[in-house]
Amino acid sequence: MKEKIEVIKKEIESFVASTVDELEVMRIKYLSKKGEIAALFTDFKNVSDNDKRSVGQLLNELKDIAQQRYNILKSSFLTNKKSDTDLDLTRTAEPITVGARHPLSIVQNEIIQIFSRIGFVVAQGPEIEDDWNVFGALNFPEEHPARDMQDTFFIEKSPDVLLRTHTSSVQTRTMTSQKPPIRVLCPGRVYRNEAISYRAHCFFHQVEGLYIDRNVSFADLKQVLLYFAKEMFGEKTQIRLRPSYFPFTEPSAEMDISCNLCGGKGCPFCKYTGWVEILGCGMVDVNVLKNCEIDPEIYSGFAFGLGIERITNLKFQVKDLRLFSENDIRFLEQFRAAV
Ligand code: PHE
Repeated sequence: MKEKIEVIKKEIESFVASTVDELEVMRIKYLSKKGEIAALFTDFKNVSDNDKRSVGQLLNELKDIAQQRYNILKSSFLTNKKSDTDLDLTRTAEPITVGARHPLSIVQNEIIQIFSRIGFVVAQGPEIEDDWNVFGALNFPEEHPARDMQDTFFIEKSPDVLLRTHTSSVQTRTMTSQKPPIRVLCPGRVYRNEAISYRAHCFFHQVEGLYIDRNVSFADLKQVLLYFAKEMFGEKTQIRLRPSYFPFTEPSAEMDISCNLCGGKGCPFCKYTGWVEILGCGMVDVNVLKNCEIDPEIYSGFAFGLGIERITNLKFQVKDLRLFSENDIRFLEQFRAAV
């Protein structure tokens, strides 16, 4: 009997009526004196004494659910009833469709929120920059390939005017204009001279973070990143740091998170490694601190940088980077519920 109750319950819960007649059919089928629920009540006397209590409860519940469903559908027909007085002459001719936030904005906002909970504030700077803010202050050697025309979009040469290749330039600006303690988050668009394909674009978005104070250590960096990974990808997320190189940090590392699709077991997405790379980080190089007139004897700090497209791909499995900048409404509409 319990199974039968369950089946009828499912039927009723998924029942939709598009006309009053259909609703009446539903009423007769389930709720009338000769309906299925009444029949179950008749059968109830055959239920063993042991089961009477639980079955009785289920049966009463079923009756309530059916009645409620009927009432809801009935009232929707009443309110939808058209009459001459329903005419709303103030209504606009076309239905207004509400827009959706861009997936990159959704993810950027989430990242900002996560870091703001531990005291980071947003800092912004220009996209058109000079060599010093993007490379010079950040300890890039004169002959570094990033300074090459092939990697950087130059607007003018000597003095250099260029499109920033990373938002680390905002970190330079913050360090040269503020005194520590510094705790900033720098979101923004960056440009690199790359051939456009499904996995690379000539512009993309980053969020970089900078923390400078007395006694800041690598352990602080690791803890902040672990906190971020868990907040962004879930409590079970693990991180691993691999040694790496950036001119502006020493030591430097790249951070992987346990694959958020397979939970680290291995799948095509993480190429069966169980890990996916999400950001670069490290302790701010002493030369950078000196270039920005911060005393490395007193202060130390860490920095990290991540690509928003990458995080968005991980969260929403967008396979082609170009979709982010094509403004195809069919793509953008899919993120309406994600805000
Ligand atoms: N600026 C680096 C990049 O664009 C990211 C990064 C930031 C790495 C801070 C380490 C520290 O790839």
